[in-house]
Amino acid sequence: MTTAAVLTAAGSGSRLGRDIPKGLVTVGGTPLVRWAASSLASVCERIVVTAPADAVGAFADAVAGVSARVDVVAGGASRQASVALGLSALADLDARDAVLVHDAARPFMPVAVFGRLLDALESHDAVIPVLPVVDTIVSGVGGDVRYLSRPTLGAVQTPQAFVWGALREAHARAQAEGFEATDDGAIAQRYGFRLGTVEGDPLGAKITYAEDVEAAEQRMGR
Ligand code: CTP
Ligand code: MG
Repeated sequence: MTTAAVLTAAGSGSRLGRDIPKGLVTVGGTPLVRWAASSLASVCERIVVTAPADAVGAFADAVAGVSARVDVVAGGASRQASVALGLSALADLDARDAVLVHDAARPFMPVAVFGRLLDALESHDAVIPVLPVVDTIVSGVGGDVRYLSRPTLGAVQTPQAFVWGALREAHARAQAEGFEATDDGAIAQRYGFRLGTVEGDPLGAKITYAEDVEAAEQRMGR
């Protein structure tokens, strides 16, 4: 069985406010996309990186020498479109193979979580890492505010693990009916695939703002 990954890095990183794409921003001298690809390579034989269309070459340089077969393709206008383009590069996988979908914006997710995801995939079609929510959460901000019951809430991270046949079918159906979601677990669930959860890890937090890069640099210096 093959384990492959789509690593999304085609965003512009607008909230980071740098003049290079977020995936090329370095922590400890190494680009974020390379941190993420290197850790995926510990469980994946193949990785498809989605890069901004005008930076495919720079991303290929950034991941050169990672110990997996890595292909860099141009991403799309949304994260979902980028994932779909990445999946097209995996068309020759077997339906039972495993695919992780991960964000280069979460470069420090511990490899132990990858193991939990792949183990749980033995009894599910899709598995997402979830962290308990520490803040009280409301919906309807700016209008009809409603309190949500915190003990039942979770924050969803990446990577997310999928049986290839399920992920391929779910994305194809989403594309056909114009269903949009912010992650791939939601797409799999929408089309009736069995969704499981495992415990995520705070180290897998998303790098969004300049201070997230600074905090990662500081952790690295310790
Ligand atoms: N992504 C992508 N293609 C897009 C948009 C986002 O591959 N069209 C990827 C990003 O590169 C990132 C992940 O999806 O790895 C999560 O997105 P986010 O953290 O929002 O990153 P950006 O979109 O780059 O940042 P921003 O929203 O601040 O511009
Ligand atoms: Mg974004």
